[in-house]
Amino acid sequence: MFFKSKIEKNLISLSEYFKDDFKIGTAISPWTLKYNKIEKALVEKHFNEIVADNCTKPMYIYKDENTIDFSTADKLIKFAQEKNKKLRWHTFVWHNQMPKWIYYKDAECKELATKEMLEQRIKKYIQAVMEHTKGIVPSYDVVNEVISDKTFTLRTEEDHSLWQKIMGPDYVEKVFTWAHEANPEAELVINDYNIETIPGKREGMYNFVKDLLSKNIPVSAIGLQMHISVENPPVSRIEETIQMFAELGLKVLVTEMDVSVYEDEKEERKEYTPELLEKQAQRYKELFECFKRCAKKGWLTDVVLWGTQDHLSWKNNFPVKERTDIPLLFDKDGKAKPAFHKIVGLK
Ligand code: GLA
Repeated sequence: MFFKSKIEKNLISLSEYFKDDFKIGTAISPWTLKYNKIEKALVEKHFNEIVADNCTKPMYIYKDENTIDFSTADKLIKFAQEKNKKLRWHTFVWHNQMPKWIYYKDAECKELATKEMLEQRIKKYIQAVMEHTKGIVPSYDVVNEVISDKTFTLRTEEDHSLWQKIMGPDYVEKVFTWAHEANPEAELVINDYNIETIPGKREGMYNFVKDLLSKNIPVSAIGLQMHISVENPPVSRIEETIQMFAELGLKVLVTEMDVSVYEDEKEERKEYTPELLEKQAQRYKELFECFKRCAKKGWLTDVVLWGTQDHLSWKNNFPVKERTDIPLLFDKDGKAKPAFHKIVGLK
């Protein structure tokens, strides 16, 4: 009998299973810690790394020019410290979930800020976060999603980013440099999606990072978000991608993994048949075998999933509103899915 309030105690812990390969993490929120006893217990048992799904994004911390408020983020910091989990900080610079005022001169957000203003604001923010988390947080996403899906070069206003427009094309160099100055020990990550999926975007990112490294910009790792599906991309392309960036001298982290059962937005809601769950399990198994090979070669250090229980995944409403999905390792009752059993070599 499976009790709803309890998790399966007899399963091997994922972090135990992969302890000689890589850290294994998941995204959580302070809400989980307070209200979702099942997910909290799963995180405690199976993961040795966590990342905030939202509360360490600037819009939740940088309330206004003079207010940097860590009170919510501190709940996760406390949990990570108490439970001895590695905490990744996500993220400093992004085109989403930033406080709107940061880009503007005036409270009405009519006139864009000057280059100096935005530089001073983001530098102050990076310094404050580093000051607050130094020695506790080992790894930071310094920039998130800066490469465009359309041009495969630095995102511009057409791709909803004001960073380049206001600060100029070297803004990524500047923020990495400030992050390093504020916390020289930290792992500094450039994080993005579809790098493992779209060869053109991968090439764009590769050239971009190569250029940063040739200028001695302190980028230590690339984060591959890995929001992928049961069909795509092929494991061989993922492995090739990890190798390419590792050979540039970077560490590689999988930072936001989920495996959707849909290919695109046109697909109707599927029945979650045993065959579909088995197909997903087989896919997870092949991916984790690839991750193990990459870890053994010293290329890959972390595999972080974007959530724990299917019903709480962001994929339930994205990219299609009200279409559910089941991209993770545990179901809504906290029961391990076939994918879990497959990656730990049980069934
Ligand atoms: C992106 C971001 C994450 C998160 C996910 C979806 O990949 O990097 O912070 O918002 O989308 O939830």
